[in-house]
Amino acid sequence: MLAQPATIETATWRDLNALRHLEQVCFPLDSWPLLDLIGVLTFPGVIRLKASVDNTMVGFIAGDVRDKKRLGWITTLAVLPQYQGRGIGRMLLEECEKLIDAPVIRRNVRISNKTAINLYRHCGYEQVSIWPGYYHDGEDAFILEKKVYIIRGV
Ligand SMILES: CC(C)(COP(=O)(O)OP(=O)(O)OC[C@H]1O[C@@H](n2cnc3c(N)ncnc32)[C@H](O)[C@@H]1OP(=O)(O)O)[C@@H](O)C(=O)NCCC(=O)NCCS
Repeated sequence: MLAQPATIETATWRDLNALRHLEQVCFPLDSWPLLDLIGVLTFPGVIRLKASVDNTMVGFIAGDVRDKKRLGWITTLAVLPQYQGRGIGRMLLEECEKLIDAPVIRRNVRISNKTAINLYRHCGYEQVSIWPGYYHDGEDAFILEKKVYIIRGV
């Protein structure tokens, strides 16, 4: 049987429980506390998209814009393990990028997270910096950046 396609739509506070589950499964070392999850689903100005299959959330991405609209940040991206490798992460990233109103988008990523680094590289991100010991267990973060204005031509 063919795999059901995922649909992408804006997430709301009603997705809190599903998002909490997704975070705990996908980020065993770094899952956000409840207050941050409530914030990402409710704060104004946050782009929040969920990927669903059969009306169940299987992926989530959030992004926002800082520094007077000059810099966009992807703040979280996750896909449930059993739905990974089907293009859902890439789809979420591409949709989120379209909604981020900034010429440059950045993302921090654990230097050991080869899968995520591959995804961002395939989507046009390049390493611009490294933040030593950024994560609570001491792992460094790569800062990846995409110059969206080159692609958008503005
Ligand atoms: C990173 C993550 C979101 C990718 O989601 P996904 O739906 O599996 O990704 P996609 O299927 O869209 O794959 C996109 C790209 O990711 C890379 N990728 C996906 N699965 C991979 C794997 N198992 N090994 C290596 N690269 C992989 C590939 O480069 C792929 O590009 P391609 O389509 O040209 O082959 C997902 O693995 C995840 O949720 N991981 C746990 C949480 C996490 O690490 N989030 C990112 C934090 S920065």
